[in-house]
Amino acid sequence: MNTANSSEARAACLRREITRHDQLYYVEARPEIGDADYDRLYRELEKLEREHPELATSDSPTQRVGGAPLAVFASVAHNPPMMSLDKTHSPEELRDFDRFLKNKLTLAQIAYVVEPKIDGVAFSLRYENGRLVRAATRGNGDVGDDITQNVRTIRSIPLQIDTTAAVVELRGEVFLPKERFLRLTQQQEAAGDTPFMNPRNAAAGSLKLLDPRAVARRPLDAVLYAVGALEGLAFATHQALLDQLAAWGCRTPRYTLCDGLDTVLAAIRTLEQQRHDFPFEMDGAVIKVNDRALYEPAGTTAHGPRWARAFKYEPERAETVIRAITVQVGRTGVLTPVAELEPVRLAGSIIARATLHNADEIARKDIRIGDHVWLVKAGDVIPAIESVIPEQRSGAEQSFTLPATCPACGGPASRTGAEVATRCTNFLCPAQRVARLEHWAGRDALDIAGVGGVLAELLVEHGLVQDPLDLYSVTPAALTSLVVRQSATGKDVLLGAKNAGKILQALERARTLPLDRWLFAIGIPNIGVTVAAQIASCHGALTDLRDSPLLQAVRPKGRGESTTTPPSCPVKPEAARAVLEFFASEQGSLLLQRMEALNIRPAGNAGSAAVAPAGPLTGQTLVITGTLQLPRSEMEARIRTAGGKLGDSVSKATTYLVVGADPGGSKYRRAQELGTPILSEAALEALLSPPPSFL
Ligand code: IVH
Repeated sequence: MNTANSSEARAACLRREITRHDQLYYVEARPEIGDADYDRLYRELEKLEREHPELATSDSPTQRVGGAPLAVFASVAHNPPMMSLDKTHSPEELRDFDRFLKNKLTLAQIAYVVEPKIDGVAFSLRYENGRLVRAATRGNGDVGDDITQNVRTIRSIPLQIDTTAAVVELRGEVFLPKERFLRLTQQQEAAGDTPFMNPRNAAAGSLKLLDPRAVARRPLDAVLYAVGALEGLAFATHQALLDQLAAWGCRTPRYTLCDGLDTVLAAIRTLEQQRHDFPFEMDGAVIKVNDRALYEPAGTTAHGPRWARAFKYEPERAETVIRAITVQVGRTGVLTPVAELEPVRLAGSIIARATLHNADEIARKDIRIGDHVWLVKAGDVIPAIESVIPEQRSGAEQSFTLPATCPACGGPASRTGAEVATRCTNFLCPAQRVARLEHWAGRDALDIAGVGGVLAELLVEHGLVQDPLDLYSVTPAALTSLVVRQSATGKDVLLGAKNAGKILQALERARTLPLDRWLFAIGIPNIGVTVAAQIASCHGALTDLRDSPLLQAVRPKGRGESTTTPPSCPVKPEAARAVLEFFASEQGSLLLQRMEALNIRPAGNAGSAAVAPAGPLTGQTLVITGTLQLPRSEMEARIRTAGGKLGDSVSKATTYLVVGADPGGSKYRRAQELGTPILSEAALEALLSPPPSFL
């Protein structure tokens, strides 16, 4: 076997192995190897693919995050449409459903499958000849958004399935695991950002990020439970379909096969008892006829198929007492009132605290210390006080007002303008410093594991860190000798060289993290993960943000200012203003100076050159070969003005190769090897000046 052949065979073997371990880890939760061994396999494959780019096939596990950020999502038509489900709320309604079907189909008994109803974001996956080629959101059921690049980052979704069928369309639900959602909202609250309402909003928001790298950091997951278009394949029963999906390595719902309605009702009750054990939010059960031959005769209603029903569960509530109301200080100085509760069991966990959000919320619900209250879980996850129970009042309850001074530093706290939040106005407040440091070191920011909670407090308390960048000046000796109280044992121990070393290593790694991570880490109000990614997708460097024409174009206009500045960045005006104001402030310019001095220059996706304007070629990289009719420099300038980038050689990152007269052989050959689309000069012209729209 020659070397090319053996590399190919080795790459194929590594791809198979890594895919198998992904499946074991992400779907079956029973890994066979540790992280280090997995990383070794992954790095070997990456190296092979670097040396032999032709081996980097689209179904390679290294290609899950391959694409450049998008400017917009393309539309995808669903055929057949993605329908919804009619809902039932009582066993009687389900009996009616069963009676109606038996009547219509003239059957004495119908077998059903009962599954959990996942409260996520419905989506579809299209496999052609076994390869994942497209993923789309449900949208309005007829047309959705093309989210292929983002869905490829979800490790539990196979990039390839073992089938010879020409077309297999799978349908299911993308979700953000509950435990991960809680962490995300805690970070958002601490940062003074508006947290996602529930895991479904968080999943939907994550799927609509334009930069797949940002999506890859949100550990989304997916369950598949249905099929759409099928060519060259059929399933006799729903059970056979679910079993085949599982055999292809997809995550499928736990299901119960029921011989009739009584067993269906029992299965629904069992599922309700298990509802908190699932990693996703579950808001009911779905009942489906098992025999797929009955689907067509059963027919459909305006809502959805007559062969399936959703059964919605009641949300759970618990009664408890507010023992006290405490006040937390966030990164931006926001004072958040928190109810300290008589611990109570609700929706699978013991709850002892619930945020009361702000003074308006307390007034609106007339919440007092000592009140009996109904506790619910917003979106099954975040404990919230639904209402007080006035009949239980003894008269001894005390009303609560937010303090006029910060409980952490004694500085003045106030409410400004239309804001609902009360803030500590002392920027030097130690509680704010700790919260800023925690945010900066958080997983979605610079991911300095270890610098959370206790350690962040210690670093600020000892005066080692006032501003997060001070971490770069803390000596290894100072870090090593910090005394930390172990939460498990309550014992005081030294942080030690090993832990200090890990933190220093993470700090070094953070230097090379991209612009969106740094921008988010800075913690400018209104700049969450999504907005940071959007801003980074159209800027080259942090210093470009100071007087970015793209942000100025979306900033809300003052009176008399021009309003005609078309190219802009896809963010809301408040976000653009917050960024511009921050970098124009003394604090902002100091930050830029310090980062420059520390030699930290995070790069955005617009490349390090001047800010790329948005246009028909935004996010695309073109390479030119041969002689064009227009002078080369003129054509290059037009491509840049249209938002495009120019490359010197053809690689996987190249969107088009533009071919003029007498083209060079190597670029052309390489484009053919990689399947890069080729454009003539005339075709390029057409892209640069699209025909007028007749709308
Ligand atoms: S089957 C044509 N199964 O619930 C029937 N849907 O409220 C296709 N959903 O639009 C849907 N879990 O997004 C099905 N196990 C499950 C489901 C499920 C959640 C969603 C789905 C649907 C919505 C209807």
